[in-house]
This record gives sequence, structure tokens and C-alpha cells, in this order.
Amino acid sequence: MSEPEVVATSEAQIAVHWKEEAYIQPSAQFIAQANMTDPYVHDRFGLDRFPECFKEYADLLDWYAYWHTLLDTSDAPCWKWFVGGKLNVSYNCVDRHLTKYRNKAAILYVPEPEDEAHVAITYQELYVRVNEFAAVLRDFAGVKAGDRVTIHMPMVPELPVAMLACARLGAIHSVVFGGFSGKSCGERIADSGSRVLITMDSYYRSGTLLDHKEKADEAVKTAAEEGQDVDKVLVWRRYPGQYHSATPMQDGRDYFVDNELKTHVGSRIEPVALAAEDPLFLMYTSGTTGRPKGCQHSTGGYLSYVAGTSKYVQDIHPEDVYWCMADIGWITGHSYIVYGPLSLAATTVMYEGVPTYPDAGRAWRIAEQLAVNIFHTAPTTIRMLRKAGPDEPQKYNYHFKHMTTVGEPIEPEVWQWYYDVVGKGEAVICDTWWQTETGGFLCSTLPALQAMKAGSAGPSMPGIHPVIYDENGDEVPAGSGKAGNICIRNPWPGGFQTIWGDRERYVSTYYGKYCRNPESKEWRDWPYFTGDGAMQAADGYYRILGRVDDVINVAGHRLGTKELESAGLTVEEIAEAAVVPVADDIRGRVPDMYVSLKPGFDAGPVIEAKVIEAIETIIGKIARPKHVYIVPDMPKTRSGKIMRRVLAAISNTMDIGDVTTLANPEVVESVRQMVQGEGMVVTQEGPEDLKLFGEER
Ligand code: WT7
Repeated sequence: MSEPEVVATSEAQIAVHWKEEAYIQPSAQFIAQANMTDPYVHDRFGLDRFPECFKEYADLLDWYAYWHTLLDTSDAPCWKWFVGGKLNVSYNCVDRHLTKYRNKAAILYVPEPEDEAHVAITYQELYVRVNEFAAVLRDFAGVKAGDRVTIHMPMVPELPVAMLACARLGAIHSVVFGGFSGKSCGERIADSGSRVLITMDSYYRSGTLLDHKEKADEAVKTAAEEGQDVDKVLVWRRYPGQYHSATPMQDGRDYFVDNELKTHVGSRIEPVALAAEDPLFLMYTSGTTGRPKGCQHSTGGYLSYVAGTSKYVQDIHPEDVYWCMADIGWITGHSYIVYGPLSLAATTVMYEGVPTYPDAGRAWRIAEQLAVNIFHTAPTTIRMLRKAGPDEPQKYNYHFKHMTTVGEPIEPEVWQWYYDVVGKGEAVICDTWWQTETGGFLCSTLPALQAMKAGSAGPSMPGIHPVIYDENGDEVPAGSGKAGNICIRNPWPGGFQTIWGDRERYVSTYYGKYCRNPESKEWRDWPYFTGDGAMQAADGYYRILGRVDDVINVAGHRLGTKELESAGLTVEEIAEAAVVPVADDIRGRVPDMYVSLKPGFDAGPVIEAKVIEAIETIIGKIARPKHVYIVPDMPKTRSGKIMRRVLAAISNTMDIGDVTTLANPEVVESVRQMVQGEGMVVTQEGPEDLKLFGEER
């Protein structure tokens, strides 16, 4: 058997082994007002009631035409939900709330500079803005149903306005995280085939007004190199009428949105009635190869699922003020800042900037001023807020009833601070496990029904039926506490439909490993492979151990090792590159980069700097490696594959294991000394049950 190339290892191997924590019960006060208090809900969503159980979620929406077929599996594994149904997402998130909630805030926007006033956008105002911008898109930019539109914007209300305007027309939006480089944006423009790019001139980050439009020029250039022309770049201005970017507007291509809106004042655009399975958006995410994949999400299934989970897990009522601190450029923001909350007529808070700017109290001041009562963020942010100001929350008079954590495992110690200090012992916590591909939550406690347990993502959601498989495809006994690959037995409405333009990759990545029969049209034959390692405790709660593929979860964001490596390889002196995850106190995991040089070049800080610069311009600052190690040679198997497992063990001062079968075992010790110093080897034994993540893969 040839040696595995996958990192396999490290995410899971360096997942700390926590003991089982005590249960914490939700308060009577929380239970009394909760949306979901039916103790039989999991029975109602049992596998024997699948797929009919999901009718309940579809019924949270308004349909122009009601669906006739709940789940169509004829094109397995591209599942079609609510077939025959027609609806519009913008109608469901805006128009239908006008009768009751016209004057209620839909979005509360907090600019980063503290001397700029908060902006409250009522549902009526949102309706006006979405319609007028939809008119610009349709009548000025020529956007129609089915077209792809790339949006590269910061956290400002114009971003959800743009998304909802696309949804109103039936155009498929592809939002690229604002912190990604112009080049990354350009690759996504090309892959999606967008002719229109929506961007903004500038935004605030840590007190500086950053130039963002410059990235649009780079993006359009990159897209053109890949064969995709962009006709129109629509540029919002952070301050309408004033342009804050050093790059010139290109005649006949770049247009200020505030100018174009002037001719569309008062425009009203009928929402387009779309089929439930028409795509709503693409969200690019990293995978095992260098090329990010465009996860295609549906209209009816997706919106039903995010509405249902926002209602029952986030416990959102229209009168709540809900603040999710994620960026809309990631799936969390799509599902749980924009679509879920707005479909329920909630008030959703958007904050432009850095949570600790200008000081560690900022987040809690915002919570106090806006009377936020539901809070949602990632462990990396919780760690950062705790480090910056462990006692800050008590200085502010806010009260959360509910808090969410998402994106990476949370250490019980950090969980406890979140519970005691941020939540003041009053708020329930939901640790929600899911992915870009899954549209919404897969595992979490239902807050009024199931006790919290620090360090566990909880049991599966109603209607989600996980199974843990070992490498041979045998089921790991439920509740055994043994680790394996967590999969989902059944489809669910929020699941993505395919990878844009690459069905083959969709099938092989997510179903290749455990599909029982590739010809089958029966959903039972197609368990969904999540790419995560997990174990289930005797009480049914799942603990997520981390990725089992070449993906690193950096501060709750996914980065492909291959993407980083190919960025590194653009530096002319570099011969080989290998990226491995290393544990980090605040960001969870960060990439360490090992490179070897072509003959004739000497190691030095100049090359290190070049590698870092290449990664920042090709991917974005978020991917910046913690270290760049220039090594004399990579540890390799006899077949020439780089042993990333060994490098990950070195980076994390873990037991390196047996290296005698390598082609060049002597290299390991010299690399180890370079990284760890001359002294004694510090070893951390990997836990017994994680041998699964060793070399056998
Ligand atoms: C990966 C998905 C889903 C929104 C944010 C990230 C990890 C996610 C948890 C959690 C432990 C988690 C998994 C997953 N992950 N939530 N509660 N506990 N790990 O979306 O970028 O698609 O990343 O994040 O490894 O596969 P994403």
C-alpha cells in the first residue's frame, strides 16, 4: 500500500482530550419563552418519519405555489426538496413582514468608528433599498434570473441589500469574504462565470479606512486571465458622494451605486417566483485540492432549513435583538445573520469592525446600547475577547438569554468563561456544529430541551441522523466514545445541491468513500461524508475532533493546505512546500509552512518574507503562516510523497512516531532541531483512539 498523502492526522491528533463535563440545565425563565419545548420533537423527526418531517420547516415560509413532492431522489445524490414549489427569498425575508413589522428594525448597523451613529433600517426601509438596488441590477446592469453575481464587500448593510436584491431577481449571488485578496475574488468570479461584480470603495478596520476598491481591479484582471470578462463593477461608497480609494474608476466599467440609484428612486421590482430547487447562492470553500469549490445552495430547501434552525436552535422571536458577530462573507453570516433571522422578522445586528476596537469593552457596549439578547460568535473570538478583557462584560448592563458558539471545538475552560462571564450565568449556550456545505446546523442541543455539556456539540438536530464509520465502512457502535468519520445517513433540506460546474467532484468528495451503490436512487445508499472526525458519548452527544482531510480550520475559517502550498510555490526560489496545522492559543489552528529551495538559492529572511507576501496577495491575510521554515529537504516516503504527518508532529511537539521506513529518515532530526531547538524532544502522546488518524488512511 502506498503511503497516504493526506495530513490525516493533525487536526484530530492535536485535539485536546477533554474529560466529560457536567450537564448544565437551561433556566426556567428561558424554557418559559422558548420556541421549541416539545419533548417529542426528535420522535417527530425520526428516521421513520423521513422525509415528511421536514414539511414543518417548509411551512415556515410563504409559497406562491405549494410543492407536490417533498423529496425527489431520482438524480441521486443531487437531492431535490419541495419540488413543484415556487417562492422568492427576498419576499420571504422582507415583503411578507411589512404588514406587521413595517416600522420594526430589520438591521441595526454599527459602524466601527464610535462617533458615527448607529443606523436602524426598518423592514419598510429595507424593502425600499432592496427594490431600488434590484432595479439597478436589472435595468442598468442587465442581471436576470440564473445569472451569477459576485459580491466582494465588507460588513455594511449594503451587503445584505445586494444579496436580497439578487434573490429578488433570481440571480445567484456569490459573496466572497471581504478579507480575501483581489486574486482570490477573481478566481471565484471566473469559476462562477459572473459578469457583474459588486464591491465597495472602502471600510473601517481597527480605526483605518482601508482601500477596498483596489481589490476589484485585481479581481477583474485575474478573472480576465482565466477567460471571464466582467462588464460592470458596481461600487458602493462608504460615504455616498465621496470616493475613498486611490484607484481610478474605469470608464465604461466601474459605476458608483449611489449615482445609479438616483435614477431608480421609487422603483418596485416584483419578486421573481422561483422553483424551490433553483440555486440561491454559491459559497466557495476550501477542499483537498488547490481549487476552492462553489457550494451551490437552493432556494426552498435552504431557506426552510435556516428558518427552522434559527427559530428552534437560536430561539429567535421577532421581538429579539440578535447579534451574530460572524462575517456575512462566510456561511455563518449567510444563514444566521441574513437569511434565517430575516425570514423570522428578527432584528439582526451588523457590526462593521474589529470586536476589540477601540478597546476590549466595545462588543459589550454594543450589546448594552442595542439591548442585544441573543449573541452568536466563534471560539476564536471568545478567546480573543477573554484575553483582551476578561472582566469587561460585567461592566456593561446587557443580558443575553441565548449564546451560540460555532466553527471549531471550544475548550471547556473557554466555554465556562463564555457561560459565567459573557452570559452572566443567565444565557443558554448552543455549540453548533455544521459546515459551508450543510447550509445550517447538524448538531446542537435544543436549548430548552437538552442540557448543555461544555466541549460537546450536543446531539444531532431533529431530522439529522449521524453515523460514525471506521475506515472500512463499518459502523462504530453508537455511544461508544470511539472516534471515526462522522457522516449523515439522510439528506436534509439545507444540504448543498452540488459543486458549481463540477458534479463529479461533488459525488466523489462527499459520497465516494461510503456510497453503497453508485447506481442507487435510494437516499439510504448515500451517507454524506462530512470530512470531520468525531466520537459519540454514551448520552448521545457528539464531540467533534476536527478535519480528517487536508483542510485547516484557522480561527473558524477553512483553508486548504494545497491552496497555501501552491501560493508558496509561486515564489521562484521554492522547490517544494508543505503546510501543516499547528495549535494556537487564540486562533485554534494556524498554518506552519515548510519549504525547500531550488538548487543555488540560500535560505534567509528575504525568502521567508517573499513566501508570506505571496500567500497574503494570492489568498489573503487570514492565511498568513505562523512560521516559514526553510528546510534542507522534506521528509519523504520511498514513493516520494511528503510526510506532512511528520512535519505536523514536529510543529506541535508531538510524538513523531516511526520514521525508519522513510526514504530520508535523517532529515527528520535536522528539521526537528530547526523547529524545536537542540534540546530534548518534548513529546505529547496522541490519544489511543486517534490511531485511526494515523498512517492507515
Ligand atoms: C468545519 C466547517 C459552519 C460554520 C463555520 C465553519 C468545523 C464547525 C464546529 C463545532 C467543532 C466545528 C468542522 C467543520 N466546525 N463547527 N461546533 N465544533 N468543529 O464553516 O468553514 O465550512 O468549516 O468547521 O471541522 O467541518 P466551514
